[in-house]
Amino acid sequence: VPNVQALAGTCNGSDEQIPERYIRTEATCEEVISNYHGDMAIPIIDLNKLLSPQSSEEECVKLRSACQYWGFFQLINHGVPEEVIENFRSNIIEFFSLPLDAKKEYSQLPNSLEGYGQTFVFSEDQKLDWGDMLYLQVHPTDSRDLRFWPTHPASFRQSLDQYSSETKSLSLCLFEFLAKAVGAEPESLLGIFEEQPRGMRMNYYPPCRQSDKVIGLSPHTDVVGLTLLLQVNDVQGLQIKRDGKWFSVDALSGAFIVNIGDTLEILSNGKFKSVEHRAMIHPNKERISTALFHYPRDDLLLSPLPEFVKDGKVNYRSISYNDFMMQFFNQKRDGRNRLERLKL
Ligand code: SIN
Ligand code: FE2
Repeated sequence: VPNVQALAGTCNGSDEQIPERYIRTEATCEEVISNYHGDMAIPIIDLNKLLSPQSSEEECVKLRSACQYWGFFQLINHGVPEEVIENFRSNIIEFFSLPLDAKKEYSQLPNSLEGYGQTFVFSEDQKLDWGDMLYLQVHPTDSRDLRFWPTHPASFRQSLDQYSSETKSLSLCLFEFLAKAVGAEPESLLGIFEEQPRGMRMNYYPPCRQSDKVIGLSPHTDVVGLTLLLQVNDVQGLQIKRDGKWFSVDALSGAFIVNIGDTLEILSNGKFKSVEHRAMIHPNKERISTALFHYPRDDLLLSPLPEFVKDGKVNYRSISYNDFMMQFFNQKRDGRNRLERLKL
């Protein structure tokens, strides 16, 4: 499939032509809510408050409700040094601004996700997303395939390494608080996610003058455990679905947006929700974001953990994690249907 950045460059004139495969009618026919406040806004969770004994309990209640009703929250005071985030940010922006040929040195190989290219295409008639990406496996460190790790800009590998290392303990800490928030043993999720693979997807969404005709990233839920999103430049575009309506996320600068994936919904027996989301396009500004995915042990038999089923009723049937992954990669993105089929 074509490089979208190149495509966007060719259709900037007033008689812009968007190839048929990118034209999405659903984008304009659904209600979108922005500038919402109070209880209706995506919750903000403060890691400092979670960590201080006098405020921890109260913040855990907020965390629990965020993961149950929104499946998303913004994390502030997360302790990852500003400098680490800034270096990573400026390197990604610089990488995507390189000439196409320079980026293509890191192109995905056939049938592989890693490298520079586009998200998975699973059928000939599938509508395509208005975006390019660079996907890298970042942990464990010995699984890194450096063929795909850019050497331009010169500090990119180092900033990627620092960002993924600095966020590692943060994520483990989140898994502990998530368990704690619903009264499970704090270690219960660590056994499944500690020292397991983590992958980083860096998204580049070119502008499109007819932005209401295209979608940057199709509606989907994340199949993984937990995702740590960072909006890299200051262009907003993430939307999440709640009660049948799309809500625009106003990403706070310096915060992480954290979301629950399918795997964690099942493990938690539905106490946490994996919520549908998508990325929209700006008419004249490029948008860049990154998603850091936390995968579970790959030999996992995916089913609710006993710690999360103390009330006795199991809400999901079991499936091997590998089969579940295959479904995700080989089928049309159809919202929460993959999850709903597992419900008992
Ligand atoms: C996603 O990774 O699902 C969306 C990220 C974004 O562009 O906000
Ligand atoms: Fe996602």
